[in-house]
Amino acid sequence: MFRSEVYIKRREELHRKMKTGLALFAGNVDSPMNYPANAFHFRQDSDFLYFFGLDIPGLAGVMDFDSGKDHIFGNDFDMDDIVWMGPQPMLKDLALKCGVTSTAPFIKIEDLFKDALAKKKRIHFLPQYRGENKILLSSLLGKKPLELAGSASVDLIKSVISMRSIKEKVEIEEIEKAIEIAYDMHVTAMTMCRQGVKEQEIFGAIEGIALAKGAGVSFPTILSINGQTLHNHSHDNILKKGRMMVTDAGAETNLHYASDITRTTPVGGKFSKQQKEIYEIVLQANTEAIKAARPGISNLDIHLIACKIVAQGMKDLGLMKGDVDEAVAEGAHALFMPHGIGHMLGLDVHDMEGLGENHIGYNDDVKRSDQFGLSFLRFALPYKPGHVFTVEPGCYFIPELIEKWQSESKFTSFINFSKIESYMSIGGIRIEDDVLITDKGHRVLGKPIPKTVKEIETICL
Ligand code: GLY
Ligand code: MN
Ligand code: MN
Repeated sequence: MFRSEVYIKRREELHRKMKTGLALFAGNVDSPMNYPANAFHFRQDSDFLYFFGLDIPGLAGVMDFDSGKDHIFGNDFDMDDIVWMGPQPMLKDLALKCGVTSTAPFIKIEDLFKDALAKKKRIHFLPQYRGENKILLSSLLGKKPLELAGSASVDLIKSVISMRSIKEKVEIEEIEKAIEIAYDMHVTAMTMCRQGVKEQEIFGAIEGIALAKGAGVSFPTILSINGQTLHNHSHDNILKKGRMMVTDAGAETNLHYASDITRTTPVGGKFSKQQKEIYEIVLQANTEAIKAARPGISNLDIHLIACKIVAQGMKDLGLMKGDVDEAVAEGAHALFMPHGIGHMLGLDVHDMEGLGENHIGYNDDVKRSDQFGLSFLRFALPYKPGHVFTVEPGCYFIPELIEKWQSESKFTSFINFSKIESYMSIGGIRIEDDVLITDKGHRVLGKPIPKTVKEIETICL
């Protein structure tokens, strides 16, 4: 964990922002795979980590904004636990690591909530994504789990988002460590990307690196020669010459900060003329979007810069036609780039997505579009110094989408459907980097991972 002052300062700031009421931060519990004692790799809740930092199951943090006091509830380990798990710290010593001096057995949280409810204190909580914590809240508040849906505290959500959005120096250092692990993962994937290798072998090798050097992957690795499926989690194919392998993979550091990087490698390491044509378009979209990133410009502006580069590139190759600005305004380019340019990155790979995408990336003035493609943009607001974003343009040949649009004669004034056929074996290409917004511009985080055609061909030699 970070030094206790980091957590004390964060909680003090939240107290200042919230002023009144009681907030519950439910830590996660172990999640069984197939029977209670056989659990998935434990992942602590990110908001609990942010304010309390303790990375063990079965804890809850409470901040009382009226009294200014913070509490941690949890159970001390007993001798049976120690026999199986080894010596364990006492809860009060753990709590001191994040600067909390008030601890109590977990069951005592009921008394605190009973008292708060009796006094009609406002109770704040964040949206819950795990069944156990939905049940905990339901029991503490005396409401059925279904009655809780949509009743999370918008004030608390917004305060937490305002804090977690602006990364501290120590957080940026952690994200850069996570990218360092991603460097090894991606360079390994590139050098293994050869004819006859099974995707699963590369997937296993790079997830192993994430575990060997950090807390594991920041999301299940996407690795496939069928990169046209944006989040392809099947790894059954044998690599064949003529195809391209999309690797979208990142790691978590031991403190659970994430990286999220995508590279696309031709099987065998040498780009064909056609692969290079499409790759250079996506690379230009990636580099130009990054170049434009600075405080004040919005993620929507950056998204549109990238979409126009993809549309212009496709027009230059004869796959699109007509006016590029009009094509992008109407959404025709989304046949080839149906997703958003990127998202925030931090303790979560899609940072704070559990708190509600529209709370993070949209507001009363900027509403989410319902246009296909643009509607997937997770964040549309202006950048601020301290934001960390992914920049991840792509170009995809999705047979089902192409067939549908062609059969509907959709955007025939912008798309040359007859020309697309010869590019289908490309599948998909995506290039993703992690970028910090600085006071005056931006900084691409981490050690540069091979990205140009020449760099990738060289590493694959
Ligand atoms: N790793 C999934 C994404 O890039 O959003
Ligand atoms: Mn990614
Ligand atoms: Mn991403």
